[in-house]
Amino acid sequence: MTNLVPTEFHYRLNATDGAARLGEVVTPRGIVHTPAFMPVGTAATVKGMYPAQVRELGADIVLGNTYHLMLRPTAERIAELGGLHAFMRWPHPILTDSGGFQIMSLASLRKMNEKGVTFRSHIDGSYHELSPERSVEIQGLLGSDIQMQLDECVRLPASREEIARALQLSLRWAERSKKAFESQPKGRALFGIVQGGDVPALREESARGLIDIGFPGYSIGGLAVGEPQEVMLAMIEAVAPILPSDKPRYLMGVGTPDDIIESVARGVDMFDCVMPTRAGRHAQAFTRFGKINLKNARHASDPRPLDEESDCPAARDYSRAYLHHLIRCDEMLGSMLLTWVNLAYYQSLMKGIRAAIAEGRFEAFKAQVKEGWASGDI
Ligand code: GUN
Repeated sequence: MTNLVPTEFHYRLNATDGAARLGEVVTPRGIVHTPAFMPVGTAATVKGMYPAQVRELGADIVLGNTYHLMLRPTAERIAELGGLHAFMRWPHPILTDSGGFQIMSLASLRKMNEKGVTFRSHIDGSYHELSPERSVEIQGLLGSDIQMQLDECVRLPASREEIARALQLSLRWAERSKKAFESQPKGRALFGIVQGGDVPALREESARGLIDIGFPGYSIGGLAVGEPQEVMLAMIEAVAPILPSDKPRYLMGVGTPDDIIESVARGVDMFDCVMPTRAGRHAQAFTRFGKINLKNARHASDPRPLDEESDCPAARDYSRAYLHHLIRCDEMLGSMLLTWVNLAYYQSLMKGIRAAIAEGRFEAFKAQVKEGWASGDI
């Protein structure tokens, strides 16, 4: 697991088609072909999948979480065991989130001040502190290739004052994170996170503040937190044109296949979301024809596979009746097969998106994919 290629972290923009971008994020552990979907591996595992399988489906990078790993098994233990790549047997790039967002959704008795966040673990109630410096230290111990600054994401709806306060705090934390990151080995990257809620002017202020500090990549946070899709897309439109074209843009926690294709159309390069993996564990399959709920009784005697033309054995070779049966019986193979189906679908969508941008037919591809989802041919 030590075959690192000596290189500086950088982004290459290879083609554009409208605002859509085809590129490569180059890291010492390998190239991430963008637009990219990053499967979520919160607790050092993409739930229900072998690492080699995740790779084979086309993932160049997976995501890990500071919050979960700092609590269990701890960053120090993972570092002692050779780092997160060796620990989870994923030798390719890893991106880690900084922890604040997960603390807000999972931990209890949270308190935030200028210094950082204090909270109690959702696992055993133990008390912890996370500052911008400690978050970067943890991500460094994990050996993460692409690290995130600690930020504050406000839940919408929120007042303009509240959104502005959180974005200013996030900017100050961005500076502190960058400083703390300086001591890490070359080849890794720290991204700043754009906040600003649903206010275009505040989004712009946040992006400009981060650009002044200077990062090798920019994340767009604070979205997919319950706002309508049109609001999310409007925020991307407010931010993407300002961000430097020679740096990658990562839309955090997004989303549905439709969110992804619409965000690519507006200039986003990287995505992560629990949707394909979580939905797979809850009987939902993503296919070319749209979403299918296999819990539904209408599948009980259906001998057809989910998609007979798919390259994915789970979508092509198993009957809907069998998948329905596994789910009804709460068999773990049901979750595993549907996670496989969903990650295969997401990665095939990204592959199609990249090919379409390369050939200057992204709009036609987008229209064709949407037609498939709307056909209801399921
Ligand atoms: N994941 C989804 N949204 C966010 C966000 O705003 N900040 C961070 N750190 N992670 C996220």
